[in-house]
Amino acid sequence: MTRSEPHLKVDGIYKTFQQTTTAEKVLDNVTFEVAKGSIVGIIGKSGAGKSTLLRCLNGLEKPDSGKIYFEGKDITCLKGNEFRVIRQKIGVVFQSFNLLNSRTVYKNVALPLELLKMPEDVQKEKIEKILKLVGLFEKKDSYPSQLSGGQCQRVAIARALVVDATLLLCDEFTSALDPHTTVEILELLQKLNKTLGITIIFVTHDINVVKEIAQKVCVLDKGQIVEKGPVEKIFINPSHQITKELLSELLKDNLPDFIQHQLHPQGQENDDLVLKLIFNSQTSTRPIIAELIQLWKVPINIMSGNLDHIGRETFGHLVISLKHNLESSDQIIAFLKENHVDVHQLGYIKWA
Ligand SMILES: Nc1ncnc2c1ncn2[C@@H]1O[C@H](COP(=O)(O)OP(=O)(O)O)[C@@H](O)[C@H]1O
Ligand SMILES: [Mg+2]
Repeated sequence: MTRSEPHLKVDGIYKTFQQTTTAEKVLDNVTFEVAKGSIVGIIGKSGAGKSTLLRCLNGLEKPDSGKIYFEGKDITCLKGNEFRVIRQKIGVVFQSFNLLNSRTVYKNVALPLELLKMPEDVQKEKIEKILKLVGLFEKKDSYPSQLSGGQCQRVAIARALVVDATLLLCDEFTSALDPHTTVEILELLQKLNKTLGITIIFVTHDINVVKEIAQKVCVLDKGQIVEKGPVEKIFINPSHQITKELLSELLKDNLPDFIQHQLHPQGQENDDLVLKLIFNSQTSTRPIIAELIQLWKVPINIMSGNLDHIGRETFGHLVISLKHNLESSDQIIAFLKENHVDVHQLGYIKWA
């Protein structure tokens, strides 16, 4: 593998599952590349083909056609020992941690090393090193039933990486975890990515996970990659409807129901105009809301908001209301648009 070569290259893979009377095309000409040491998220709705794609990447499933190159080698045609050697470099973790309940943490992580008949002292060194890295060294003699979900996922990650893996594949690995534990596991993956240089490919239906850790994203729909590229680019300027739907999760209005119900489409003097402002990378870094208040001397009521950062880019939305006045409302909207804020008029509200 040369420096410029991608760590993984998926080149036009197809996969169809034969049912008794029908055939279902689950992967349809999937092509993408993953650079060494990067973190890539594959996102799509349930049934999009994400798990099937991931199973193809680690050889659990064979594509009908197309090629998968790992570290420069075509792995779709490998068999026997050659295949086993490659598989050692590709670790996998799933939503269900798949730990053996009768084995301690230490012994669960030892499993792949035992299969390779590695000498015990070499095993010990590798297991202790990876357990320290995932923060579970103190729990090495515990059994899975004595661990939390997050700790079980750490064991699964340690086991996936213990045989010198260079690529980690994760399938919905945070779906069984609460939000706090999810954050901890995402931080762990970032740490492993940085300290060991592990390449990470994960599939998820949760756009938040992509936002937190991925540098690149592929959007999968009905077995096809409908959009791919750097996360900031895709998030700020999504082109496909599915991407927009997935992103709407991040930008939920979260207007309370009672306000939602009071919104009406026509405004009168003294009503409040309710605006949704969408900020993206083009929005200037000037304090636009503060300027607006100063220029028009209007009080602004912030009703909901969700502003976030991807790298250095700010994106997200604010829902604001301000006293409606035919002339100034138009000027304010024009001012916001000049400053590259997307403005949507949600309606008018009459405060009691
Ligand atoms: N082994 C299989 N046999 C037949 N159909 C399958 C098999 N695995 C997956 N499928 C079908 O392929 C489609 C995609 O499934 P999957 O890859 O699990 O999607 P996702 O992980 O995005 O939810 C589904 O319609 C599923 O029923
Ligand atoms: Mg799945």
